[in-house]
Parts: sequence; C-alpha cells; structure tokens
Amino acid sequence: MDKFYITTAIDYVNGAPHIGHAYEKILTDIIARHYSQRTNDMYFLTGTDEHGIKIQKTAAAKGITPKELCDENAQKFKDAWKALDINYNKFIRTTDEEHEKTVQKIFKKLVEKGDIYKHSYEGLYCSGCECFLNPKDLTEDGLCPDHMKKPDVVKEENYFFKLSKYKDAIIKHIKDNPDFIVPSFRANEVLNQLEDIQDISVSRAKTNVQWGIDVLDDPEQSIYVWIDALSNYITAIGYDTETPSEAFKKYWPADVHVIGKDILKFHSIYWPAFLLALELPLPKHIFAHGWITIDETKMSKSLGNVISPTSVLETFELKEPDAFRYYMATSAPCGRDGNYSDEDFKEKVNAHLANSMGNLLNRTLSMLVKYFDGVVQPKNYELVSGSKELVKKALGTVKIVENHFNHFEIAEAAQEIMSVVDLTNKFVTDNAPWTLAKEEKMAECGQVLTTVLEVMCIVSALIYPYCPNIAQSMAKQLSFDLNVKLDDITDENIKEGKLISKEDITPVFLRVDSELADKSAKK
Ligand code: ME8
Ligand code: MG
Repeated sequence: MDKFYITTAIDYVNGAPHIGHAYEKILTDIIARHYSQRTNDMYFLTGTDEHGIKIQKTAAAKGITPKELCDENAQKFKDAWKALDINYNKFIRTTDEEHEKTVQKIFKKLVEKGDIYKHSYEGLYCSGCECFLNPKDLTEDGLCPDHMKKPDVVKEENYFFKLSKYKDAIIKHIKDNPDFIVPSFRANEVLNQLEDIQDISVSRAKTNVQWGIDVLDDPEQSIYVWIDALSNYITAIGYDTETPSEAFKKYWPADVHVIGKDILKFHSIYWPAFLLALELPLPKHIFAHGWITIDETKMSKSLGNVISPTSVLETFELKEPDAFRYYMATSAPCGRDGNYSDEDFKEKVNAHLANSMGNLLNRTLSMLVKYFDGVVQPKNYELVSGSKELVKKALGTVKIVENHFNHFEIAEAAQEIMSVVDLTNKFVTDNAPWTLAKEEKMAECGQVLTTVLEVMCIVSALIYPYCPNIAQSMAKQLSFDLNVKLDDITDENIKEGKLISKEDITPVFLRVDSELADKSAKK
C-alpha cells in the first residue's frame, strides 16, 4: 500500500463539539493509526465547515460577527481533538483564504462547462440541513424530519447544478463498486434517492445569505455551502483547476471519507457528481457511521443532554483519552447506532482495559520478576501444550484485524483483539504458573510467561490505534518496538535475557474509580 488518504466530515461551527462529533473523529483517527501501521504515507484531514445561513443566524442571535463565532468555536474543536489524541495532518477551515479562492474557481469551471446554469426557483429550505427539502420528505406537520423545524419558503434566482446529467453514471458506479458505500446495506437507500434526483440549487441570493463565498463575476450570489464544504477534501491537498499540486496528484482520490449516516446523500450523490463534472476520480470508499445517543436518547440542546467530549475525561479524572476512545470505538458494529452512558463506560473499560488486558501484562511481568528476576527464559514451546498455538493464534489475529479494517469494522476488530486477550487469560489460569513455580517446574513456568509476553507484544501493536498511550506503556515494558509495520510482526518479539526490574513495572490502565464517578455525577 503506497498511501492512504482519509478524511472526516467537517463540523459546523454553530456550536461546541459533542461526543457525536468525537465519535467520528475517534473512528477516523483509529483507522488512520491502523493504516499508518501498513503504509509510510498517511494523510489525515479534518476541519470545520464555517459558512451558511445557520452560522449567520447563530452569530446574529449572539450579537457577534460570523467570523467571531467561527474563530471561537473552531478553536473548541481543535482543543477537543487535541485532548482526544486525534492525530490529524491538517485542520482545514472553509474560511481559509486558499480554500475560498479554489472554491470560486471550481464554481467558475462548472459554469463554463455548462454544468451550472441560472434558474428561478421556489423551494423549502431547512437551515439545519443547509439544503432544500422535497415536500414529500417532510413530516405530516410540514417539518424537517431531522431537525423538527419548519423549513423556510425561499424564492430566488439561483445557480443550478445539472445533477440529473450524472445520475446514470453514479448509479452505475454504485452498482459496479459494491464497497463504494460502507456499510453496503446503505447502498440501496442511496439508489432509491437517486431515482427521483433533480438538478440542485448551488447558490443563494446575497440578499438572503451573506455569510458565504461569492460567486466570481456575480457577487450578488453566494456559493451553496455544500459545494463549498465538500470541496474541502480536494482544496486541502492543493487541488487547482489549472495546476494541481504534487500532494493532490499523490493523495487523490481519497481512500475513504468518514461521515455520519445523515449526510450520506451529499457524499454519495452530490460529491461524486461534482467530481465527475470536474473530471476527477471518485473516492474509493464512503464510510457512513451510525448515530450516538446518550442514555438511549437523542442528544439535543433543548433536552440539555449534550455531552462534550472532554467532559467524560473530566468526570472520570482521566489523564489520557484511551479509555474513552476505546469505549466510543466499540459502541456499535460497523454503521450501526451506538450509545453512551457513564455506567456502561465504567463497566466496559474496567473489564476490558484494566481487568483483562492491563492486569494480564501486570501480573505476568510481576511473576517474571518474582520467579526469574525479570529475565526471560529460553523458549521451548514443547514444554507447555497450547503455548505455540496461542502465539500462532495471536499472529493470525493480525490478518483478521487487517481484514476488518479493510471493511471499516472497527468494533469488530477490537472484539478480535479482546478475544486473544481472553484466550491468554485462560491460558494463564489453565497453566497456573504460580503452581508450576511451587512445584519447581521452572522451565515450564518460564515458558508460560514467555508465551504470554510474546502475545502481549502483538496485542500492544493491535490495540495501539484505539489506545495509543496504553499501547506505548505496554510496548515499553515489553521492550517491543511499536513502529513495526503490522506485516513485519513475527512470533519472535520477546528477546531472551533481562527484560524488566520490579520498579519499572507500571499498570498500563487503572480501574476507573466508581466512587469518583458517582461523586462527580452528583455535582
Ligand atoms: O453535517 N452521533 O456538520 P455537522 C454521531 N458540516 N455522529 C454525529 C452526531 C451524533 N449524535 N451528531 C453529528 C455537517 N454527527 C456538515 C458536514 S462534510 C463536507 C460537511 C456527525 O456538524 C455527522 O453525522 O452537523 C457528521 O458526519 C459530523 O458529525 C458533522 O456534523
Ligand atoms: Mg448535523
């Protein structure tokens, strides 16, 4: 694999980030870190979506300028991603000058091509969605089903994009590439939407929407936010209508756009159409994740149940984001909805990360120190039945995990890793190295420990994308090099000889303190 280019949706900056936004950035970061274990050339893009009527209205309500609102909130997103160890290469803001200029050129090119034309129009616009809605998609009360708000009646002369011209090509692309839309069960939804697709309005009158990029040569119109927003995936890496950058030539097409299921239409219909019109190749995959609820309830400002990503770290006094990352990443199977609750969080991370995984390494190293002064004994798999098989199983899991990641099955991959951990715990219980030591079967005892340490090296590499800090702490105590590419991992990771001293053994993850959590829930 020569390169991997991955993007997230860019978040609207009309509010602060919440754990739904965090879910997507965590998934994306995990995929990016996994692929950085498979390629030397990873590019991870995220950012914020800053134009449009929604931002304009929110700023007006707060009595500040749209730019002030954008600056304030964009910083909150950056701070949150820093706290969660989201390791992006670039953070694009759609108010970046370079982005704005390129979007104007893109629009101009499509006008010149005849794919964008002017047309008088009356429609129902939902500012929540930032799009015109089809009357048949509204609720019985005439509300937008996603935002439960009445759309505005808009009558304007707008620019229109010839979406209908690309309909057949997109249908063919989706049918010919069954892994274009992930998970595949969503492809039918998109194909249905494509059936009655019409040309779309791609500008708004400046009299109604001031906070947007001007159409070149027609400053009475501002460019529709979704053309502006979607283009970030190419402007960020230096696309230009005349001379694209070297980075663009190298990274485009994107390997995957990670987005929420609510914006799949924009990514699997509008975006491919714009790209076809620009004569650019389509992204390889669109991965639509599910929705995160809180205590099984939709997050909303009016319900007052919106949780900020960093508040979870604060509630449980976590210095590292690993546990929260792990919890979010495993909250739902690929593409399905997930849920967050404090109670469940505590239970799961204590069970998986502290009890199963952390403890396993901790007590194995402690026994190595107690029985062998921290010295790894010569390997002899023959001595302990099942030990060779266990290491083989762990090594085989690398391929299984890679295969899950090929299909963006993040929770499923984590489950495989945890099942190796569980098997290893069972191996320790079954072979009871403490009994072997008592019986002075030291060679056997040593072999049990070596087997476990060997497996834990592999586990540290596999868990790294989810829990980078925990993995680093594990690898350090195992003297294992985490920079190794997944395909270069072998069953010979642990070297014979002195590995560790008592004072260098540290727990990789401490149980989330239940009293602490209860205290803060009462606050
Ligand atoms: O849609 N659970 O921005 P946005 C899971 N600017 N994911 C959630 C979520 C939740 N509760 N709430 C939001 C936009 N998301 C556009 C995108 S891309 C060129 C432009 C996800 O701030 C949502 O699905 O409304 C989307 O992928 C992302 O957060 C940003 O949502
Ligand atoms: Mg949204």
